[in-house]
Amino acid sequence: MANFVQQVEKITCVGAGYVGGPTCAMIALKCPEIKVTVVDMNKEKIQEWNSDDLPIYEPGLEEIVKECRGKNLFFSHDVPKAIEEADLIFISVNTPTKMYGRGKGMAPDLKYVESVARTIAKYAQGPKIVVEKSTVPVKAAQSILHILKEAQAHDQKLHFQVLSNPEFLAEGTAMVDLANPDRVLIGGESSDEGLAAITQLVRVYEHWVPRERIITTNTWSSELTKLVSNAFLAQRISSINAISAICEATGADVREVAHAVGHDNRIGSRFLQASVGFGGSCFQKDVLSLVYLCETLNLKPAADYWHGVIEINNWQRRRFSDNIIKELFNTVTDKKIAIFGFAFKKNTGDTRESSAIYIAKHLLEERAKLHFYDPKVTETTMRYDLSSVTENELGIPNFGTTYSGDISLHPLYSSSTKDTSPNGQFIHHRHFTHHRHFTHCTVHPP
Ligand SMILES: NC(=O)c1ccc[n+]([C@@H]2O[C@H](COP(=O)([O-])OP(=O)(O)OC[C@H]3O[C@@H](n4cnc5c(N)ncnc54)[C@H](O)[C@@H]3O)[C@@H](O)[C@H]2O)c1
Repeated sequence: MANFVQQVEKITCVGAGYVGGPTCAMIALKCPEIKVTVVDMNKEKIQEWNSDDLPIYEPGLEEIVKECRGKNLFFSHDVPKAIEEADLIFISVNTPTKMYGRGKGMAPDLKYVESVARTIAKYAQGPKIVVEKSTVPVKAAQSILHILKEAQAHDQKLHFQVLSNPEFLAEGTAMVDLANPDRVLIGGESSDEGLAAITQLVRVYEHWVPRERIITTNTWSSELTKLVSNAFLAQRISSINAISAICEATGADVREVAHAVGHDNRIGSRFLQASVGFGGSCFQKDVLSLVYLCETLNLKPAADYWHGVIEINNWQRRRFSDNIIKELFNTVTDKKIAIFGFAFKKNTGDTRESSAIYIAKHLLEERAKLHFYDPKVTETTMRYDLSSVTENELGIPNFGTTYSGDISLHPLYSSSTKDTSPNGQFIHHRHFTHHRHFTHCTVHPP
């Protein structure tokens, strides 16, 4: 058996989440001769991927999954088998901010990535290309390789090459982003075997991505680029949000300023919309990861600079809820407030780090009565998210007993985008194009 992969015929992706599912669906669609298997330790999630009710919502995803599933796209919880048969393995598991020990609240938690590396080391029986798709700090590939080399030392049949191939899709537009990416980034070793592995992954993407958009770099540049990309995007949001505060204080209109500023080709118009602050599982986590990296490298001014992006975001959220309170005559106690939109952005049901949760927390502190509506988020998810933020940050031990609000499930429709009605209801509405869960979740403080 050759000691490196000659041709990729079978791909396995470990992690059937927001990245693993859509990415592999696109690979299966564009590479009909490659067998793509997506595995996850969460059996329920795999069952959903194999059902008519997919575990995540992305426009266009369902159609592709239905077209490819059972032909060259498979969802399974048999991780050992999928690892054993694969030529190339994507690691696409979550890398949340660490909530314990060293780097708590800053560094990404790599325990899931490491555990996948150990599983690969345990079940691989021949050469494999292992690809980091998860967002990881610089040099994470080294730890993965270290684990794999241990196994290699005991078994001559094994041979591993580790590549970095970060994902740049945005939730809500994932399928369009995957079908037509601005760039695909692949980092690897510059040895002959490293270059051969890069070539194999390039060939997969070349099925549909023009070669000039596939950038190859060394592993560390690729890992760092993902953090830098998200930091730049988050920084633009914080920049325009900081300007929105100046506009509010001076009578300038932030939309007019953004429009005029964005007309400068050097600046560009995207990511210049003032908002209630960025959310989602990635921006805050990845900026914090960059800050942590700066700190560990003893680059304090750089760490402070990037940390400012997070501080402005937190400040913007607080300003938003403070403005609501001010509009409602400086008290929201016992006032009914409707919050339209609970996910972190439109066209997704993902609520991770959603600004809605933080706004709700601020308003609950002021004892407002909150009513939520989001067509893509279930009531259970809303309750869970609100209970974690209240338990962790308000010091309230038990959400269920503390908030005795009535819960009802029915559709709510409103065409207004922002409305303050005479009886003191403040409505903030975000538009959704698809409706699946008509959830109206009501939360009343005691
Ligand atoms: N969500 C995004 O928009 C996005 C975009 C680009 C990059 N990323 C990065 O991609 C990675 C994955 O993000 P996501 O949003 O898909 O996460 P996710 O939480 O939606 O999915 C991760 C999946 O991995 C599974 N998993 C964890 N450990 C496992 C193990 N040992 N074996 C098998 N399965 C395991 C989990 O059960 C989960 O289903 C993260 O590093 C994230 O930063 C995310």
